[in-house]
Amino acid sequence: MSKTALITGASTGIGLDLAVLAARDGYDCILVSRNEPRLHELKKVLEKRYRVNVHVFALDLSEHQAAKRLTHAIEEAGLTVDFLINNAGFGTAGEFIDLDAETEAEEVRLNVNALTELTKAYLPDMVRRNHGHVLNVASVAAFQPGPYMAVYYATKAYVLSLTEALHAEVKGTGVHVSVLCPGPTDTGFFNRAGSEMMVSKMPSHLVAFFGYKGVMNNKRVIVPGLSNQLLVGAAKLMPRAVSLEILRRFQKPTDAAVEQVPNA
Ligand SMILES: NC(=O)c1ccc[n+]([C@@H]2O[C@H](COP(=O)([O-])OP(=O)(O)OC[C@H]3O[C@@H](n4cnc5c(N)ncnc54)[C@H](OP(=O)(O)O)[C@@H]3O)[C@@H](O)[C@H]2O)c1
Repeated sequence: MSKTALITGASTGIGLDLAVLAARDGYDCILVSRNEPRLHELKKVLEKRYRVNVHVFALDLSEHQAAKRLTHAIEEAGLTVDFLINNAGFGTAGEFIDLDAETEAEEVRLNVNALTELTKAYLPDMVRRNHGHVLNVASVAAFQPGPYMAVYYATKAYVLSLTEALHAEVKGTGVHVSVLCPGPTDTGFFNRAGSEMMVSKMPSHLVAFFGYKGVMNNKRVIVPGLSNQLLVGAAKLMPRAVSLEILRRFQKPTDAAVEQVPNA
């Protein structure tokens, strides 16, 4: 019997690599992002390479009621979701008081609201069927507050907390709920956030591989890579005041970066 994976943010980066892994594993795929032509290109590749059915839903998940429109369209198409991958997300960098209010609200609607609504839409049925998988993408940023990326860090702390709680709630039902917490990963993320990090970045296919393997093994929290695991371990041990000061210094926008911001 065919099984279906819904992947948000499947057009590029970690989401694209997770979609490839799901298709390779025999899942039919529902691909979601705003970039319809990219999703159709990926559909062609996955259908040809892995002989699965791929459905494309192009929409902006940060828009009001977008998750509801998506779940409605999926239902109309007669599809059941067996594996939900809440990957779409973005970050903003800069001083909270200077960042655009609408962009910050958009970030919360995408990273928090859409993820919550999609989980709420599909988890109950998975529990009823005693089978299913949910993989929510947070970040190593979820483990401490992050000055100069304050909203992003806060959204990812929410994703971590929600997912760990749901993992505990569904224990024993046969449903796997996991949270993937990548560190810096080589994708378009930093470009959109408007901040380039001078640190080494993990290839997104490796991050996706650890995430995929982790949720299949019902791991609660997946932190890919030893250096990210050490970072998370340190964040857990360090007093908040110390980690806040380190991040405040490390992430403070430089004068050069500020000059690039229009009207800064
Ligand atoms: N890269 C990192 O260093 C890193 C580290 C930790 C966590 N993460 C998390 O990993 C996840 C994936 O990010 P990535 O690194 O792969 O970045 P990316 O290459 O920028 O990919 C983001 C994906 O989300 C989609 N997306 C963005 N806004 C959307 C919207 N409003 N509606 C629907 N889809 C939207 C994008 O597609 P369209 O542009 O086509 O809509 C794209 O497919 C995010 O949740 C991010 O926070 C990334």
